[in-house]
Amino acid sequence: MIRSVSIIGAGIGAQHLLGYGALPDRYQIHSICDLDAERGGALARTHPDVTYGNDYNAILADPKVDVVDICLPPHLHFSAILAALEAGKIVVCEKPLVASLAEADQLADKVAQTGGIVSPVFQYRYGLGTAQLLALIEAGLAGRCYAGTLETHWNREKPYYDIPWRGTWAGERGGALLGHAIHIHDLLAWLIGPVAQVFADTATRVNDIEVEDCAALSIRMECGALITSSVTLGAADDTSRMRLLFEGFTVESDHAPYSLAEKSWRFTARAPTTQTQIDAVLAQVSEAKTGFAGMFEALADTLDGQGGRDVTLQDGRRSLEFVTAVYASARSNLPVALPLARDHPLYGGWVPDAARER
Ligand SMILES: NC(=O)c1ccc[n+]([C@@H]2O[C@H](COP(=O)([O-])OP(=O)(O)OC[C@H]3O[C@@H](n4cnc5c(N)ncnc54)[C@H](O)[C@@H]3O)[C@@H](O)[C@H]2O)c1
Repeated sequence: MIRSVSIIGAGIGAQHLLGYGALPDRYQIHSICDLDAERGGALARTHPDVTYGNDYNAILADPKVDVVDICLPPHLHFSAILAALEAGKIVVCEKPLVASLAEADQLADKVAQTGGIVSPVFQYRYGLGTAQLLALIEAGLAGRCYAGTLETHWNREKPYYDIPWRGTWAGERGGALLGHAIHIHDLLAWLIGPVAQVFADTATRVNDIEVEDCAALSIRMECGALITSSVTLGAADDTSRMRLLFEGFTVESDHAPYSLAEKSWRFTARAPTTQTQIDAVLAQVSEAKTGFAGMFEALADTLDGQGGRDVTLQDGRRSLEFVTAVYASARSNLPVALPLARDHPLYGGWVPDAARER
């Protein structure tokens, strides 16, 4: 079945369009919706038969639209997702999904009522590199994970913050932890999770903004692995990197900031596992669709009854639970154990009260 998609928001929505466009036998692009007619219209014109509109409610009312892909600023996600579920649409929504565990649980209630689907965007998971690592784990060559390092070392300068919602608690709902490092932290939890505890330090050092742009995290996984995660928006270039030290090998990811798994990852055998054993498994791993195309393909598979690879609402909630724990730890200067109970002081959100009232 080919599903008809409307993309709401023409910023990162342009990359989503390319992702859907790479899957012509699974999706067709119906429309681009954006309040900015110049931006939205220009994006719509890049694809044949794609219409432009500026009215989200009209998209929701259109029975020809199957999938609503929300690429709006973070503070608009919650209400836009609820409305799309009410309208019976399949929902894809950019990160961060919403701004609290309470909102994530309200979405889960709405999904239960409507029978809908919400797929949060975590495109890092898709590509050759992760397929290789999963194949080696599946083949029994990984063993226990001892430790690891994560780097989200990106460069964001003043012009990036000219868009008014960025850099603010009210608009962005968080800083580098919520907006940038959320990808690599999702990847970690997906590969070797869940997280058992986090101890975090955050700071605003690079730009004159309200939210954090640097962080140092110490993470204990439930499996026992000890992970450190370094985050800054003050790097010379945009580099992401994951190194995981397993009993059977050490793996280092590629460094691409937006599609970490697109290229081959580097696997080094650790005795008694041999490089020959590793290479034999890797030789069987075929090219995989990467980034947004990989994610949208996995969603289409699930919608067609072959589930298991898509990003779920539970995954989105888990990423927000981690963010909640990180802010709780940074503010208390204490380690925070997960999962968080519903009576946790930040269950209703981490955005400071003064910013909410604005
Ligand atoms: N997955 C990723 O790698 C990735 C990368 C960049 C951004 N994002 C996320 O995508 C989201 C959007 O980010 P962006 O950088 O594209 O933002 P942006 O501000 O560049 O684009 C948002 C667009 O939404 C439009 N818009 C705002 N309100 C609207 C409304 N009510 N109806 C229709 N259109 C409306 C704006 O006119 C604007 O063009 C954010 O949540 C961000 O965190 C994800």
